[in-house]
Amino acid sequence: MNKIILITGANKGIGFEAARQLAGQGHQVILAARNPERGQAALAALAQNGLTATWLELDVAQPAHWARAATTVRRDFGRLDVLVNNAGILRPDDRDILTAGPELVQATLATNALAPLHLTQALAPLLPAGGRVVMVSSGGGSLTDPVGGWSPVYCVSKTLLNGIARQLAHALQDRQITVNAMCPGWVRTDMGGRNAPRSVAQGADTLVWLATTPNQLPTGRFFRDRKEIPW
Ligand SMILES: NC(=O)c1ccc[n+]([C@@H]2O[C@H](COP(=O)([O-])OP(=O)(O)OC[C@H]3O[C@@H](n4cnc5c(N)ncnc54)[C@H](OP(=O)(O)O)[C@@H]3O)[C@@H](O)[C@H]2O)c1
Repeated sequence: MNKIILITGANKGIGFEAARQLAGQGHQVILAARNPERGQAALAALAQNGLTATWLELDVAQPAHWARAATTVRRDFGRLDVLVNNAGILRPDDRDILTAGPELVQATLATNALAPLHLTQALAPLLPAGGRVVMVSSGGGSLTDPVGGWSPVYCVSKTLLNGIARQLAHALQDRQITVNAMCPGWVRTDMGGRNAPRSVAQGADTLVWLATTPNQLPTGRFFRDRKEIPW
């Protein structure tokens, strides 16, 4: 069955690759991006591959955009089968937890953790039974992996995102909506850099699987490479 799937931060990187794969499978992709030119360019890139999607202007760090996105999706589609909270930032000045200032901390938490919470709140009324929420997280947010010493505020934001995923999973389970977090691994994107070992196709694979597998999914879990991993 074709699904209606909204992906945030879908103009490039893992989000764009997920949009490309999902549109290629025949799903109705809502390609959300904060910048109109970059959003349109992404649509044009899909069109060059013979693929179509709908573009939605959505800056996840703008509170006014959450309800606006819900209004647009309701008007144009009537429901949303899958929400992929993919947009994220990793700031170059995020190097030392002992000196990280409030602007860096607030911006990183707002984009990477609080926006996925509030956007999910806004869109949850449109999710039917069987609906899914996918949080694009990171092993950097794990509480069982060794602490790596890299981008500490980013890692804390993903720990918070994982906690939010578990709470949302609990809150939505009676409606048969699953909420799961996933780690794409270290991926060659603008964020991951050129030395990362994984391609965007590898990075998007578990996300696409969580969005579309016909198998029943557990909820409130953390995945990498289509397998559950510890929080
Ligand atoms: N790459 C990795 O190795 C890796 C590893 C683990 C987890 N992840 C996670 O995977 C996700 C995608 O990362 P990526 O590697 O594909 O990074 P990327 O290439 O830098 O792409 C990030 C995307 O997020 C968007 N974005 C940032 N802030 C936004 C906002 N306020 N509103 C809307 N969109 C916003 C960006 O839009 P603009 O183009 O407008 O900036 C871009 O489309 C992130 O959540 C990241 O934390 C990545």
